[in-house]
Amino acid sequence: MVQFRLPKHSQIQKGKVFKQSGDALSMRTFYIYRWNAEDGKNPQMDEFTIDIKKSGPMVLDALLYIKNTIDSTLTFRRSCREGVCGSCAMNVDGTNTLACTKHVDDISGPIRITPLPHMEVVKDLVPDLRHAFNQYASIKPWVQNNDAPKRERKQSQEERAKLDGLWECVLCFSCTTGCPSYWWNSDKYLGPATLLQAYRFIADSRDTKTKERLNALEDPFSLYRCHSIMNCTNTCPKRLNPAKAIGNIKKMMVEK
Ligand code: SF4
Ligand code: FES
Repeated sequence: MVQFRLPKHSQIQKGKVFKQSGDALSMRTFYIYRWNAEDGKNPQMDEFTIDIKKSGPMVLDALLYIKNTIDSTLTFRRSCREGVCGSCAMNVDGTNTLACTKHVDDISGPIRITPLPHMEVVKDLVPDLRHAFNQYASIKPWVQNNDAPKRERKQSQEERAKLDGLWECVLCFSCTTGCPSYWWNSDKYLGPATLLQAYRFIADSRDTKTKERLNALEDPFSLYRCHSIMNCTNTCPKRLNPAKAIGNIKKMMVEK
């Protein structure tokens, strides 16, 4: 008889509870995913109720407050707190986003925070992004050009405008980890973040390797596992449109 078993450590258990006293109007409760590979225990959801007036308005402010004043072992990535480094990506209230640009007041009720989905977890809210960044490196994310000009390469305003909606990507992988096709085929499908970056260089008038870049994506998985589910575009915290970039690559594939 077939037996279905959940993987070891997959069941999330109730964790510890911390309740601060304060102004009832500004009290907010956070349920935060905790997991530490070193203690051998299952993951747990810790509950922290804090006065948001003491922390600051953003989800990242609340996490920093909890780490600095309640539990210094809480682990997450962050750097810029301005939505430009991409390191604080996590799932907040069911949506992949940047904790530093997500306003606590935009969420009603208790706030549930988990790591980006379908990635190995290093600790607490830190996902293992090595595979995703290796895939990013595979598309050669730099301008390739055989000429060696004596001065900078110029672009017309129209050529430069083609990069808008692409250069703003902060490589947070919110889109990639929200994509069901990526969950199923992440070994061979590159995912929306890396494909948006691939198109960013395909669309760059200074790059002369368009044909080679398209050829490198010409297999059943790297590009064509995108089924236009659109989770990527719906979740992107920078309001970019990876699905459109992928569609543009597919169109160029047909025309080449
Ligand atoms: S396209 Fe958006 S969601 Fe995807 S990596 Fe770039 S900024 Fe993040
Ligand atoms: S801390 Fe840099 S994007 Fe959030």
